[in-house]
Amino acid sequence: MNMTGKKALILGIANKHSIAYGIARALKAQGVELAISYAGAALAKRVHPIAEELGVDQVFECDLSKDNDIKNMISILAEEWDSIDYIVHSVAYAPISDLNLPFQHISRHGFLTAMDISVYSLIAVVREAEMLLKPGSSVITMTYYGAQKVVPNYGVMGIAKAALEASVRYLAHSMGEKGVRVNAISAGPIRTLSSAAIGGVAQLQRRIEKSAPLARNIEQEDIAKTALYLLSDLASGVTGDVLFVDSGISIMAY
Ligand SMILES: NC(=O)c1ccc[n+]([C@@H]2O[C@H](COP(=O)([O-])OP(=O)(O)OC[C@H]3O[C@@H](n4cnc5c(N)ncnc54)[C@H](O)[C@@H]3O)[C@@H](O)[C@H]2O)c1
Repeated sequence: MNMTGKKALILGIANKHSIAYGIARALKAQGVELAISYAGAALAKRVHPIAEELGVDQVFECDLSKDNDIKNMISILAEEWDSIDYIVHSVAYAPISDLNLPFQHISRHGFLTAMDISVYSLIAVVREAEMLLKPGSSVITMTYYGAQKVVPNYGVMGIAKAALEASVRYLAHSMGEKGVRVNAISAGPIRTLSSAAIGGVAQLQRRIEKSAPLARNIEQEDIAKTALYLLSDLASGVTGDVLFVDSGISIMAY
C-alpha cells in the first residue's frame, strides 16, 4: 500500500475523539497530504491546533448544509490541487430535540435536517469535487447498524443512515464509470461528541463486551485502519459496499 503524495479531503473533525481525526492521523502517517474542513466558527479553536499537529495548510470552515460553502471550499482547493485522491465524509447531525423520542414524534424539521446534513452533504461534496476525482480516487463515509436494524434511541439517525447507505450504492454506480469508488464503514459505537447525543451508548458498549465475537469495543484506530484499506488501492475492486467494523456484533441474532 503506497499512499505517499496522495491528497485527501477530510470532512468532520470536531476534536481528537472524532472518527475523522483518527483517519486523518492514519493517512498522515502514510505520507498523504491533507485538507480538512470543520462545521463552524465555534470549532475553530479545537480544529486549528489539530491542523497544526497534522501539518495541514488547507483548513476550511465549511457548513455542509450550504452549497456555497461547499463550492467555495472545492474551488479554493482546486487552485492548489489538480486532483483529490481520497474524500473522507465523517459527518452527521440531527437536532437533539429529535433524538431519543418515540419514533412517531420526530418533527419534519428534524427529519429534513438529519437527511440534509448526514446524507445530502455526501452527494453535494462528490458532485462539487467531481472534476478533481480521477480514476482510482476513493470516497468513504461513516454509517451505523441502526440503518439496518432498530437500535433504541437512534431513531431519525437510523433513517438518515439507511438513506446514506443507499446513496453510497447509487454514487458508486454513477461514479463507477470514472473509476471512482464509494464505500461506507459501519462502525460500532465509540465515545464522541455525536454519539454522546444518542442515549444508551454505554449500555450498548457493555453488551458488545459481553456478546460480540471479539468481546471488546472497537477503537478509533480500528476504523482508521479499515479506512486506509478502503481508500487505498488494496480495495481497488470494492465499491458500493458497507463494511462493518464492529467487533462482529452485527452478525449476532441476540
Ligand atoms: N461514534 C460512533 O459511535 C459512530 C458509530 C457509527 C457511525 N458514526 C458516524 O461517524 C461519523 C463521525 O461521527 P463521530 O462519532 O466522529 O462524531 P463527531 O461529533 O466527532 O463528528 C461529527 C462531525 O460532523 C460535523 N458536522 C455536523 N454538522 C455539520 C455541518 N452542518 N457541516 C459540516 N460538518 C458538520 C461535526 O462538526 C463533527 O465534526 C458520523 O457520520 C457518525 O454518525 C459514529
